[in-house]
Amino acid sequence: MSAVLTHQPPAPTVEVTDAVKRYRDGRREIVAVDRLTLAVDAGSLLAVTGPSGSGKTTLLGILGGLITPTSGDARICGRSVVRLRDHHRARWRRAHVGFVLQDLALIDGMTVLENALLPLAPSGGASSADVAQARTRLAHFGLADRVEVKARTLSGGERQRAAIVRALAHDPDVLLLDEPTAHLDQDNVSRVVGMLAELRDAGRTIVVATHDPRLYDAPAVDRAVRLVDGRLG
Ligand SMILES: Nc1ncnc2c1ncn2[C@@H]1O[C@H](COP(=O)(O)OP(=O)(O)OP(=O)(O)O)[C@@H](O)[C@H]1O
Ligand SMILES: [Mg+2]
Repeated sequence: MSAVLTHQPPAPTVEVTDAVKRYRDGRREIVAVDRLTLAVDAGSLLAVTGPSGSGKTTLLGILGGLITPTSGDARICGRSVVRLRDHHRARWRRAHVGFVLQDLALIDGMTVLENALLPLAPSGGASSADVAQARTRLAHFGLADRVEVKARTLSGGERQRAAIVRALAHDPDVLLLDEPTAHLDQDNVSRVVGMLAELRDAGRTIVVATHDPRLYDAPAVDRAVRLVDGRLG
């Protein structure tokens, strides 16, 4: 193919440059992320570790465009998102980033399949191809016989896998997960790690915030960085 016609998509990655996030808590100011620069290699699995309160969740939010830094830059797939209007940022984020939040937020009264399709609701709902895709992914990750059950009946490990499948609904380039192995036994940790490795091997860029050594020490992790007081330790 002619070089002129070759489509060169921006590298599917996330990065922050000199990012600061300050929170005001009454009269106290908290610097959750402190002049932090970090670029995540495209197609890699990065673990962000560090003690509770060190800024992992805040950094994940900045990397994914959910939290606007007080100063500094954040780029998603080649585009700076800090000065975008909210609806433009939300659209860019939805197109490129899937989130698995710390509290999961599966809707207990909905089935696993309905939960997996939920992110598609704002953009007009799921097509039959989306439904087929979600079923295939749920089955692939060991949830074939859980597709039609209510989310409230899932075990912790099943919830975590269902939440990851849900984050894939838009086929994001980048997947950000906050403590995806908290409260899981070793067997389920291994399943989640295997799932992330497989998604990384398929070309996705993945960042996990975790204080779980079973995850950040796993051979599948390409790079681990440690946060201390909002800085790279
Ligand atoms: N919305 C907020 N308002 C005020 N302070 C906040 C807010 N969010 C986070 N913080 C503070 O910022 C700091 C970093 O919090 P963050 O949640 O990023 O840490 P963490 O490393 O994810 O912790 P954990 O391991 O407990 O999840 C903490 O001191 C926290 O209390
Ligand atoms: Mg956190």
